[in-house]
Amino acid sequence: MPISPVLSGQATYPFVRLNQAAAARRAEGLEVIDFGMGDPREPTDPRIIEALRNGVRERMGYPAAVGLPELREAVAGWAERRFGATLDPDTHVIPTLGSKEAIFSFAQVVLDIAGGRDTVVLTEPGYPVGVRGAQFAGARVEELPLLESNGFLPDLDAVPAETWHRTALFWVNYPNNPTGVTAPPTFFERLAALAREHDFVLASDEAYTELWFDEPPVSALQLDDWTNLAVFNTLSKRSSMTGYRSGFVAGDPTIIAALKQFRPNVGTAPQEFVQRASVVAWGDEEHVERARASYAEKRRLFLELFRRVGLRDAGGPATMYLWVATPSGVSSEAMATRLLENGVIVAPGAFLGDSGEGYIRFALVPTLDECRSAIEILEGVL
Ligand SMILES: Cc1ncc(COP(=O)(O)O)c(C=O)c1O
Repeated sequence: MPISPVLSGQATYPFVRLNQAAAARRAEGLEVIDFGMGDPREPTDPRIIEALRNGVRERMGYPAAVGLPELREAVAGWAERRFGATLDPDTHVIPTLGSKEAIFSFAQVVLDIAGGRDTVVLTEPGYPVGVRGAQFAGARVEELPLLESNGFLPDLDAVPAETWHRTALFWVNYPNNPTGVTAPPTFFERLAALAREHDFVLASDEAYTELWFDEPPVSALQLDDWTNLAVFNTLSKRSSMTGYRSGFVAGDPTIIAALKQFRPNVGTAPQEFVQRASVVAWGDEEHVERARASYAEKRRLFLELFRRVGLRDAGGPATMYLWVATPSGVSSEAMATRLLENGVIVAPGAFLGDSGEGYIRFALVPTLDECRSAIEILEGVL
């Protein structure tokens, strides 16, 4: 039976190994505290849940790909308040079913392989979905390393001229998963200028703009010129709504028009009751401030632990992640395995990309009490 070679050639998701080890521990009745995956466990605000319930009708037809006008207006209102960016709800924004599916399929919307635009550029270590989507779309994939020596920003000067000519799509993700760093406005300005010069699409995955601990991170929507720009955001992390699947793409009207044409083929419009809940979520900041305060407290406790035990926090000031350097000579997988043997799951940096070797990632999703228990365990192990 024919199976896509891209699919059959895919390595087993490396986290499977860790998940199996964790399951074995649980089967023995031992406790496991899971800092592995970034799935928030903060409760969703009751007003959002109520809007979802009230949005269910006796008959629900197919949702339209363009989304409800109320949702596009709520997103535009949020972008204006948060970034001072003025989105036209009709031409600058389209809702998505969370951002994962939109990130995955975006290469299909943009690539022109026969026309010589066959390359998707991404950064590593990173969220793997952009690479997978590019591979399924038949793209040539180039990954730029995020190195601590360069502030975990890609070295744009190291990109060969040939790559710029072949690039259809360039993905960046700031605040960054897994390193937690934010990008300065000058970085977005330079990359956006390159996108206009070489006529590729700059895709800015901004899933973590709302999880910050010193000052609010910038968005590419704060650029003066949105030509060739697509910004992806989501309620998953901001509002602890991973299960709802609700996000949006905003930016260049030509890209939004292309998405309006593409997305009805796929059937990925969010359900209307989810859209109604999302209107409430984008309209409220109080629940976001509460979540931020909760992450900040967990972060503070862990950073104190790292100082006490002499581990180096190598990460930046945002996201739910802590990016921690392993002691010299200890691989990220060896360290994660040792912590798992003591009941604490973390992600080995090498699982997120070659340049992630030498680091482990904590996703601060367990409860504050679980974090305290984990800190007690780690105090004895590290
Ligand atoms: C960098 C990054 N982008 C996008 C997403 C996708 O989030 P969602 O599909 O829940 O909106 C994630 C999820 O972990 C992520 O880490």
